[in-house]
Amino acid sequence: MKGRLIFLLVVCFIISSVTGRTRTREDKRKKEDEKSKEPVKTDPLNICNLQSERHLNIYCYCDTPEWQNATDANCWLFNQGEPQTSQVWPAFKSQKHLTKLTFHIRVVSSLGYVPTKALRQLPHLKTVEIVYANIETVEPYAFANLTLLQDLALARNNIIHLKRFAISLLPDLKVITLGENKIAELQREVFVSLPSLRKLYMDRNNLSVIHDGAFSHLYSLEELELHGNQLTGLVALRRLDLSNNNLNMLGDGTFQEMPALEELLVEKNVLEFLNPGALRGINALTRLSLAGNKLTSLPVGLLDDKYHLRYLNLRENHLRTLTYANMAPVLQNMANSSSYLIIDAKCVVDWQNELQGIHDDQKIKYVPHIAAKRALHILIGRSLLSSHDQRFGIAPVAHRSLAFAIPS
Ligand SMILES: *[C@@H]1O[C@H](CO)[C@@H](O)[C@H](O)[C@H]1NC(C)=O
Ligand SMILES: *[C@@H]1O[C@H](CO)[C@@H](O)[C@H](O)[C@H]1NC(C)=O
Ligand SMILES: *[C@@H]1O[C@H](CO)[C@@H](O)[C@H](O)[C@H]1NC(C)=O
Ligand SMILES: *[C@@H]1O[C@H](CO)[C@@H](O)[C@H](O)[C@H]1NC(C)=O
Repeated sequence: MKGRLIFLLVVCFIISSVTGRTRTREDKRKKEDEKSKEPVKTDPLNICNLQSERHLNIYCYCDTPEWQNATDANCWLFNQGEPQTSQVWPAFKSQKHLTKLTFHIRVVSSLGYVPTKALRQLPHLKTVEIVYANIETVEPYAFANLTLLQDLALARNNIIHLKRFAISLLPDLKVITLGENKIAELQREVFVSLPSLRKLYMDRNNLSVIHDGAFSHLYSLEELELHGNQLTGLVALRRLDLSNNNLNMLGDGTFQEMPALEELLVEKNVLEFLNPGALRGINALTRLSLAGNKLTSLPVGLLDDKYHLRYLNLRENHLRTLTYANMAPVLQNMANSSSYLIIDAKCVVDWQNELQGIHDDQKIKYVPHIAAKRALHILIGRSLLSSHDQRFGIAPVAHRSLAFAIPS
């Protein structure tokens, strides 16, 4: 009995000395790993309690350090920061209930990527902020499809490239701040599946190219800030298509940064109201389509100085009348056999005196005394519109257009 006990003790001693030796070896290896920046940790890391983790170049201050109890963390990266393979990123699962997470970068080179591996652990996040990092490229789905994320602040991170789907699949995201980065080109399908996005700030970047459709998935967008970029192209912009955008008003001077604009399409929006100065400063305009909106009237003054306007499409609105005062500034240039005004049949044109009565298809009369050169073509009613008129250069059949005298 005694012998067996001694034997057991000896066995225990041998085992513990073996484990002890293994531990020493582990410690040594750990030290080497620390040197190579890839620590192997057995204890679960709590990212809100990293005091003893001297080898890590990250430290987080939390509202409470207890396991799974913090809601707000401010993490500082210093020295060389942590590599993408660092154990600290998956360890963010130690604080699953974080709703707000901020990364502050002490040294410019200490965060070169979006820490997606950390974000993925935090399904309750509502606010994510990163400042002063050096994130050259934002990869697809970098924000881990966080379903509750509302506010994404990424100003001043030296971002140059936004990959396709970089900021996507974030159903509750309302605000994106990307100001003061170096984004030069905006591809299509960068901002995808962001049904709640109201505000997008991309001011003070280096944008010179915005690809067609870059904002086309943003159905709730109310505010787009692009000042301080290299979009000098707008000065020479000749055609602008804002169709299908949910726009509900056009304010004063909306297009005045684009003085060369010749074609403006704002079809199939929800425009109810136009400011009289909405088209101010775009006097080279030859073609304007406001078709498919909810306009009930046009403000007087809207078409002032539009001496080149030759095509005006107002069909599929709630327009009841189109007054002489509305049209007076453009009647002279519309008096050309290649000019077109397109309105719905229900729209009453109250220039009876001037034009001898126009009400609808039935009542429209040909006014015989006008010369062809002074004809104003008015196409009335949907039925007269061919599918070709979706694009400007329409060519409706001549006999369907009606000519009216223009008052001198
Ligand atoms: C976490 O917080 C809750 C209340 O918010 C508290 O009841 C609980 O004891 C905390 N857990 C720990 C481990 O401190
Ligand atoms: C996000 O969703 C996309 C598409 O479903 C998927 O390919 C991607 O792996 C997801 N990313 C993360 C980080 O969950
Ligand atoms: C801005 O973009 C241009 C190319 O359009 C590039 O040559 C230039 O280096 C960029 N500037 C900065 C500060 O990134
Ligand atoms: C009619 O418009 C065409 C081009 O749209 C132009 O060349 C022509 O001079 C115009 N005619 C008159 C009488 O203004």
